[in-house]
Amino acid sequence: MIGRHYVLTGGTSGLGQSILHILLQKQVYVTVLVRNPDKLKMLQSKYGSSQLTILQCDLQSPAQIANLSSQFKGETIDGIIYSAGLGYFKSMDQHTNKDMLDTYTLNLINFNLLLTTLQPHLSQMPTIVGIGSQSAFLTQAYAAHYGASKAAFNQVLNALRIEKPNYHVLTVNTGPIATPFHAKADPSLAYSQKYKKIMLNSDKLAEQIINGIITKKIEINKPRWMHMMLKIYQLAPRFIEKHSTFLFKNKI
Ligand SMILES: NC(=O)c1ccc[n+]([C@@H]2O[C@H](COP(=O)([O-])OP(=O)(O)OC[C@H]3O[C@@H](n4cnc5c(N)ncnc54)[C@H](OP(=O)(O)O)[C@@H]3O)[C@@H](O)[C@H]2O)c1
Repeated sequence: MIGRHYVLTGGTSGLGQSILHILLQKQVYVTVLVRNPDKLKMLQSKYGSSQLTILQCDLQSPAQIANLSSQFKGETIDGIIYSAGLGYFKSMDQHTNKDMLDTYTLNLINFNLLLTTLQPHLSQMPTIVGIGSQSAFLTQAYAAHYGASKAAFNQVLNALRIEKPNYHVLTVNTGPIATPFHAKADPSLAYSQKYKKIMLNSDKLAEQIINGIITKKIEINKPRWMHMMLKIYQLAPRFIEKHSTFLFKNKI
């Protein structure tokens, strides 16, 4: 990946931040799209502004995404890694209109807007990495819109792989990761405390993702045991939901 140019979202926190560190260590040129550039100024002084470009962009804003086009004039982008995401762990009636719109806009719709905006600057065979979730594969009580947005994101990435055969599209379906995501999804931290033991390490997962980019994987499903269990669940999902309902109410 040395000398390649990647655009990364979510680089200020959690998994995206872990990915950013590895990319920089691998001498990749990275352009990060962030809401608050100050969060990465220290890293930029370490690696230099030619290796790490910081562009301010609120990914909830279609106008700010559209404005990016002019910033990439004359540049080639070898890959996009979309790690920005959010979710709320609460019941459907507790989701406000804004909660729902923010979830689908960031996790799904504005990925598509960003891709379309950056498309003219992509190399011949670019890599597109989408950070999805294992929650795409099961019914998520108390995280319905998060799960739904990730299920839709999965479908969009799968369709993109077919529509653009010259693209390497890598979908990362991950189980819980120990990141600040949980404090935002559920400020009571009930879920993250309960599942602390099974949470993935973001640095380790980031290594696996970079490896997946290099070896041209099309899917990474972690942890493996969770993915296998969800495959079994898919054989009779409504039956299992009816008879083991507690498994689907674990977000609160
Ligand atoms: N953590 C988990 O258990 C888990 C499990 C499955 C899937 N995932 C997925 O993994 C991905 C990374 O999550 P994470 O755990 O690393 O979460 P995180 O630590 O909360 O990081 C989220 C990142 O998204 C950025 N972001 C949020 N809203 C944005 C906006 N409007 N414009 C620009 N950037 C925005 C945040 O920027 P700021 O620094 O400005 O807030 C932050 O860098 C997400 O897609 C998430 O859905 C996470």
